[in-house]
Order: sequence, then C-alpha cells, then structure tokens
Amino acid sequence: MAAPVQRDQELDLTIDSLAFGGNGVARHDGFVVFVRRGLPGDTVRARVTKVQRRHAEAVATEVLAKGPEHVSAPCAHYPACGGCRFQDLAYDAQVAAKERWVADSLQRLAGLPEPPLEPIVPAASHFHYRNKMEYSFAATPDGAALGLHKAGRWDEVLPITECWLTTDLGNAIRNRVQEWAREEKLDAYSQESQEGYLRHLVIREGRNTRQALVQLVTARGERFDRERLIEVLTEFPEVRSIHWSVNRGVAEVTNLPTELLWGDEAIEEDIGGLRFRVRPNAFLQTNTEMATRLYEVAREYAALAGGETVYDLYCGIGTIGLSMAARALTVWGIEISEESVACAIENQELNAIGNAAFFAGNVGEVLRELRDRAGEPDVVVVDPPRAGLAGKALKRLGEIGAPKIVYVSCNPTTLAGDLKRLTDVYGYTLTRARPVDMFPHTPHVECVALIERAAG
Ligand SMILES: C[S@@+](CC[C@H](N)C(=O)[O-])C[C@H]1O[C@@H](n2cnc3c(N)ncnc32)[C@H](O)[C@@H]1O
Repeated sequence: MAAPVQRDQELDLTIDSLAFGGNGVARHDGFVVFVRRGLPGDTVRARVTKVQRRHAEAVATEVLAKGPEHVSAPCAHYPACGGCRFQDLAYDAQVAAKERWVADSLQRLAGLPEPPLEPIVPAASHFHYRNKMEYSFAATPDGAALGLHKAGRWDEVLPITECWLTTDLGNAIRNRVQEWAREEKLDAYSQESQEGYLRHLVIREGRNTRQALVQLVTARGERFDRERLIEVLTEFPEVRSIHWSVNRGVAEVTNLPTELLWGDEAIEEDIGGLRFRVRPNAFLQTNTEMATRLYEVAREYAALAGGETVYDLYCGIGTIGLSMAARALTVWGIEISEESVACAIENQELNAIGNAAFFAGNVGEVLRELRDRAGEPDVVVVDPPRAGLAGKALKRLGEIGAPKIVYVSCNPTTLAGDLKRLTDVYGYTLTRARPVDMFPHTPHVECVALIERAAG
C-alpha cells in the first residue's frame, strides 16, 4: 500500500507523544509521522521531509494549538540553537518521556515485559547545569563570533550571547573571547573554504571549586599575541588554566594535543567529597551536580561491604571507582584515553586512596590480562560510551562472569541490546534499573542497571 503522504506535503497533526531521540509522534490516517519540533499535546502544521514505507518524517512549521505541557522557553536563541531540543516542554513531561524511553528499550530490545525500573532521578537544576561547553567560531559582518551549531545543521553556527545551559561565568568568558577576537582582528575559520584562523573555544568549569579551564583551537600557525590572550582571560580570577590547540585537519574536533599557555595543566572539581583533577582532554561527566547523584545510585547498586574486588571499566578520570574505594578491598580501573588515566592516577594520589590502580587500555583487549593481575571481580562497573560494550568487551565480561555488574549507560538502546546478550548467553538477570536525567531540554538520558548472576 502506498504511503498516504508525500514529500513537501503540509499536514495538520496532533502530537501524541515523544519518540526516543526527541521527535513528536503523530498519526495521519493511521500512518505514523515523526515530527521534529512537535511537542506532545500540540497541534502543529508540519511539512513532510521524508517518506518511508511504514512512516514519514516531518518538521513542524507552525504551532496551531499549544498542548497543556507547552511552556515558554527562556532562552532567546531557542529554538534556532541546536544545544536544546525541548526547552518549551514542561520539565515533568520531559522526564516522563525519558522514563518511558528507557522502559520501551528494555521491553522491546531486551525482551523484558516488566523491567524492574525504579523512578527516574530528575535533574536538580533545569538550567545552567553544564560544566563544559564547546563553541565554534563563525564569520559575521561584525567580525568573528562564537556560537553553537544551529539545530539540525552541522555546517552553520548560531552566534550566542547568553546560553542557558552554562553559567554566568561561562557566558562572560565566551563573550570576552569574542571581543578579543574582534579587537585583534582575527578571522574565523570556514569549514567550507577551509580558510580563516579561529576554530573553537572550549570552556570547562570545576563547578564546586570555581576553577575554569579555557582551550582555544585554531588553524595552523601562531597568529595571535599570547600575552594579550592571557591578559584578557586572566581578567577572570576563576581562570586557572589556558591551553591552545592547533587543528590541522578538516574534521571539527577539539580533543587535540594542547599547549599550556598559562597557569596549571589541569583544573580541579569536587564530586561526592573527593577531589578530581581534570585535564583538557580528560573525560568528566558534563553535569557535576547530577554526576554526584548518578554515582550515588551506582554505589547503592554495588552495595559494597568492604571485602570486594571491583573493576571500574571505562573509568575516565577514576570518578566512580575512587568513590567506591572506601567500601571495597581493591579497585581496578581501565580506560582507553591516556590523558584520562593520567588524571585517574593523580586523583588516586590526591585523595590518598591506596587500594586503587588504573591502567590504559581497550576494555575488550585487556580484560583477561586484568583478571590475571587483579583476580576475579566481585563487582564490575561499566560506563561505556554510547556504542555500549563494543568490540570484544561484552564477550570478555560475560566470560569473566562476575556476580554483579553495575552498568552505567548513556544510551538505553545499547544498554538493552547488551543486556539481552548478557541474559541470553551468559545467564545474567536485570534486577534493578534507574534512569537519571543529567541533561534537561535534550533527548539524552542516563540509566544505571544492576545485572546479577547466581553463583555456580
Ligand atoms: C561515558 S565515559 C565514562 C567515564 C567515567 N566512568 C565517568 O563517569 O566519568 C566513557 C569512557 O570510556 C572511555 N573509552 C571509550 N572506549 C573505550 C574502550 N574501548 N576501552 C576503554 N575505555 C574506553 C572514554 O575515553 C571515556 O572516558
């Protein structure tokens, strides 16, 4: 049967719910249409952008009637900016949708009709929660501007004057760097022509320590006066660390080698009573306040009594493992980024924790070696990137067969897929799971899962 809609057709649709990823779900003559910028309860006019056999995609061009959960967005850059997807959806509706996405994933992809889900932990702060922002430079008639990508566009930057996800300090530093760029008559790099100089600005903040790290990313060559940049940035007493990176390639990346221009190599952050050093390229959960809550849930699920051998896989700068060390016999961390491992080792020393060790390596490749060195684990904490337990990681984890796995996930679909394999192939059972909202106004949701295996 042919689809009842055509590309570029305009439809009036009532949005029923939010699909995983943040698009509204509507039906036109029973045919499913995913509507970008469609909020549940709204009736919208939408233009069809893509038609497939079982569904179509559309973008809302006008809200004809607002639903009860449609609120006004505070940010002047919304909805043009790609940083937030649904600032205009009441926060309660956002967390309800995220809770449903996790439940759906576990039901459909892990095959669990009634997953043992505990209520979502909502974010403590709905705005100003990020500790890291990555801005791009763009050319404007007034000179170089700093901004974020436009919604749905990787090739266009929207200049930002006040972002609601960062702090007043973060906004002030970004605006001051933009002023500096114009005073110094430095031009923005263009992705299209591959000409120009200024590429990105990264600002990281120790939210509990009030320390900031700034990383400027340019095209090749030193075309700015270092002393002047340092003078400008040190107008902010919070700035402790200023780095410069050169991106010689075409890809828009910021995880590049850095040269320290001024101050300390790293800044520090306090999480859950421990101190963590963070270097420019080291991983740190970008919402400090909710990372504390996330780790509390992970510790609750691990339920350590003091005699356990704990593996902290995908350990970043050691945050989870070190936060468990006081209640474990030993903690062993594995992490692929050498910069993060260097921080983890420093953090262990900084907190005078004697029963933890951290190693650089790919989890799938080094897990057997770790077992030879550390012995059988009682609890394995895994906190992989969005792709989940990729490569040989899941197989090796299944073979080790620890009684308890605490899986900290930033992607419920890969969590569910991994869980299905751990259940079907390695005899594990999901016993508890709890979503945590770290990123209000975005479609991201974290989830902590306790996966257990009976002895024998
Ligand atoms: C979601 S972060 C978690 C970090 C840490 N647990 C935390 O809470 O801050 C995932 C980490 O896994 C690391 N990683 C990615 N792939 C890896 C692999 N194959 N083996 C080891 N670590 C990996 C990344 O560098 C990153 O630090």
